[in-house]
Amino acid sequence: MEVAIFKDSKLASQAAANLIARTMIERSGKLVLGLATGSTPLDTYSELVRLHRNGKLSFKSVRAFNLDEYVGLSGNSPHSYKTFMQTHLFSKVDIDPRHCHIPDGKSLDPRGECLRYEESIRSAGGIDLQLLGLGQDGHLGFNEPSSSLSSRTRLKTLTESTRRTNAVHFGSHDEVPHHVLTMGLGTIMEARRCVLLAFGEKKADAVARMVEGPLGASHPASILQMHQNCTVILDETSASQLKRQDYYREVFSGKPEWQRWDLPLD
Ligand code: GLP
Repeated sequence: MEVAIFKDSKLASQAAANLIARTMIERSGKLVLGLATGSTPLDTYSELVRLHRNGKLSFKSVRAFNLDEYVGLSGNSPHSYKTFMQTHLFSKVDIDPRHCHIPDGKSLDPRGECLRYEESIRSAGGIDLQLLGLGQDGHLGFNEPSSSLSSRTRLKTLTESTRRTNAVHFGSHDEVPHHVLTMGLGTIMEARRCVLLAFGEKKADAVARMVEGPLGASHPASILQMHQNCTVILDETSASQLKRQDYYREVFSGKPEWQRWDLPLD
């Protein structure tokens, strides 16, 4: 696991966007991108939009798969993750709408929808780069604590604590759905590269348990310790509880230029 610590979330988000942009360019734009929602990736998406508007980046050949969606919300709902992605990224870049995949939270056959979702990821050739956020309780996507570490896309029940945390995006706590469709931890682990973003003091405990804690289903994000190519991008506050901070900083600052994924394109 590579841990990169930046002074603040703005710089960290820019670095994350540079990593994604460099990977897109290396692959001549033909990338299968796994995407995340939540407030954490917002600045990264803005930076990708800026690079696109400056003519540095095209999403024409990108295929995107989002991690999760609330059950019961139609794509048009202001609270759906589909609307979130449209607002913050898809409507602002040249991605083909047919290449934007998000589980259908309104499906009358959630089980079939999840199988179909797994199949579309497979037929796209698998995810090249999966962007991830981190729940305060260690969830990835919506894989709450006790999720099977080898789980696939499926219906899950949210914990009360996640519903309370996510209530800020809804009018009230009561409006937060109880159920979601989410890629499983096994699905996420098959991505060729995982890039996790976590910012702010509220994430410090979850980050420490993910990077340095024991691996286990009680802290789902700890499964990333088993991933062969996982980069964790932090700001100083979210990194504050890591015991080996000095080591991570030494490793990152000692990288030769050709290995630096964080440098701007221009
Ligand atoms: C939600 C999403 C996750 C996201 C997490 C953190 O539960 N399903 O994918 O990582 O929230 O959200 P935030 O970035 O707003 O802290």
